[in-house]
Amino acid sequence: MPDTLTIIDNRTGKKYEIPITDETIKAVDLRQIKVKDDDFGLMTYDPAFMNTASCRSKITFIDGDKGILRYRGYPIEQLAEKSNFLETAYLILYGELPTKQHYEQWVHDITFHTMLHENIKKLMDGFHYDAHPMGMLISTIGALSTFYRDGLRIHDPQARQKQVFRLIAKMPTIAAFAYRHSVGRKYVYPDNDLSYIANFMSMLWRMTEPKYQAHPALVKALDVLFILHADHEQNCSANAMRGIGSSQVDPYSAMAGAAAALYGPLHGGANEAVLRMLDEIGSKDKVGAFIQSVKAGSGRLMGFGHRVYKNYDPRAKVIKRLADEVFEVTGRNPKLEIALELERIALEDEYFVKRKLYPNVDFYSGLIYQAMGFPVEMFPVLFSIPRTVGWLAQWEEMLNDPEQKIARPRQIFLGYGQRDYVAMSKRAGS
Ligand code: ACO
Repeated sequence: MPDTLTIIDNRTGKKYEIPITDETIKAVDLRQIKVKDDDFGLMTYDPAFMNTASCRSKITFIDGDKGILRYRGYPIEQLAEKSNFLETAYLILYGELPTKQHYEQWVHDITFHTMLHENIKKLMDGFHYDAHPMGMLISTIGALSTFYRDGLRIHDPQARQKQVFRLIAKMPTIAAFAYRHSVGRKYVYPDNDLSYIANFMSMLWRMTEPKYQAHPALVKALDVLFILHADHEQNCSANAMRGIGSSQVDPYSAMAGAAAALYGPLHGGANEAVLRMLDEIGSKDKVGAFIQSVKAGSGRLMGFGHRVYKNYDPRAKVIKRLADEVFEVTGRNPKLEIALELERIALEDEYFVKRKLYPNVDFYSGLIYQAMGFPVEMFPVLFSIPRTVGWLAQWEEMLNDPEQKIARPRQIFLGYGQRDYVAMSKRAGS
């Protein structure tokens, strides 16, 4: 059986044979389908990319119906249990788990790029006292492009590598400074004796003690959360990273755009929205009424549903288990009762079952972050740190892909045809 698709254009009766590769037809192959020779040719219309592959990728695999997520072939559950964030970052970026020597070099390279230029600190100081830390993060990432001009050398693999070290290393420092700014505390500089996660916690929470001692269970929990959030193939922010990066701008500017995409409540802002929703519901006995209001169309059940997963998000399963370990140290988040009841009712309810709406990664992550002491404004910031790895891997893959060009969709134009300019005095209503 040939791997082709036969199309008959009923407008002309003409028949076309379109090749199928990787279960996909190329949209440009449809351009030959025309009524008149000077027609533009047939296009596909796909708002929100519901059924369009924008690239070929080897990084992350998702089977949304089966609830499978793998980085470079390794199941997320195994990585969450056996790996650590920096090792997983290496895997995502370079395609293989590192040897001991490569791992040590990698950790060293990240650890020794954690410092920020003093002027970046001054820049962050300039934000208003109640600035949202995600706004500070987005702006500061963009500002890094003015400090690292070699970021523009995007065709030089060594220069790209340098920006990868810098971005992964500096994100926790910027995030922690944004947090300390929002609570009015002096910034804490990186401590390179500590692990990536323990150092981040030190920059967040160290007060007068000479060395910050993070609780090992909380270090582990944050490490696992970072693994779970490291990449998620062509999501809204990865698509933004690729799209902006396709103009060949430096990675800092592209990543500021990716982080901005993550800020929205339908993407990385969802766990913040989950906690606000739980606050709004208030108590377990009000859950039933809330579900009814969602079904009646007044808002969404935040933390539920996913464009790709039509099954339980595998990350949500890991997080649910993790929550118990964190709550043993921090005490139980009182909102957990409401969340569990919401999940119980929703998973049995015809409305959610029919639409295949299951808890996503954000349903429980906010509860953990809150129990660890993070204000809700920090949630998207916490998401951005590990997702930096995914953004950079997607960016690198895009730059090395000979099929990629500047991302530039087409449109179906439904506006006016040509019309002549009308003087202001002659316009209707003058
Ligand atoms: N609560 C109630 N109904 C929902 C929800 C929800 N959370 N999500 C989808 N639906 C309903 C829609 O109303 C629609 O119903 P209809 O067919 O009767 O019109 C149907 O399910 C399909 O929904 P779409 O909006 O078409 O699905 P889409 O794939 O565009 O949206 C999204 C996915 C944005 C994640 C959506 O499920 C949502 O808004 N969820 C809440 C926000 C959230 O948790 N986002 C985090 C995603 S994970 C992440 O980014 C890390």
